[in-house]
Amino acid sequence: MAAVMKLKTLQGHLQELSGFEKPKVQLEQYETPPHIAAIALYTMQTQYEALEGKLVLDAGCGPGALSFGAALLGAAVTAVDVDADALNVLQENKDDTDIANVDVVQCNFLGPSVCRWENYFDTVVMNPPFGTKNNAGIDLRFLRAGLDLSCDSVYSLHKSSTRTHIQKKIKEWGVKGTVIAELRYDLPATYKFHKQQSRDIAVDLWRVHHPC
Ligand SMILES: C[S@@+](CC[C@H](N)C(=O)[O-])C[C@H]1O[C@@H](n2cnc3c(N)ncnc32)[C@H](O)[C@@H]1O
Repeated sequence: MAAVMKLKTLQGHLQELSGFEKPKVQLEQYETPPHIAAIALYTMQTQYEALEGKLVLDAGCGPGALSFGAALLGAAVTAVDVDADALNVLQENKDDTDIANVDVVQCNFLGPSVCRWENYFDTVVMNPPFGTKNNAGIDLRFLRAGLDLSCDSVYSLHKSSTRTHIQKKIKEWGVKGTVIAELRYDLPATYKFHKQQSRDIAVDLWRVHHPC
């Protein structure tokens, strides 16, 4: 299945977006780098037809790299984040880019209000908090919540070091999951406690879905 635009063009659009203004460490706010977001979304569309013409939820959307990328590939997107400041940046990005197909909702993705969307979305995309800030396990709680809201598949980025643990959880939940891309994520020194300029970490793009 072809995508409505070339990978390079998609990446170019994502490079234009603004990032978090004052990233909040407790919410693990760092953007998905444009090349990672572009390749992840392009893979979802060209390999699985997961975006064009689909209802898509971006869980923990931040400034919106995954939301806008999915919208550019033809999805109708609902972008959710708990943080009003991040959503202000997303709104500015929306105004600057004229990408209309992104609706914004401020809510706690792990709270009870999201259950009204049970099985509503075709596709859920996310780069969840990795769970390294006294919030161990939040990545899997995001993944589980995404599965509840999707009637098809969830595409989620996770540190490769957690692969075995995720495999175990997926089995426990009785769902299917595969790593569909192995990526390297150049995490910039966003926070004061980062001693190096950037850290290169291995990241898996998972596709998880209910058994057919
Ligand atoms: C690693 S960042 C990813 C941002 C964006 N999706 C991207 O890919 O560039 C994780 C995001 O999850 C949001 N977040 C953390 N906990 C949340 C929660 N309980 N509900 C909704 N959003 C949350 C943070 O504010 C942050 O924007």
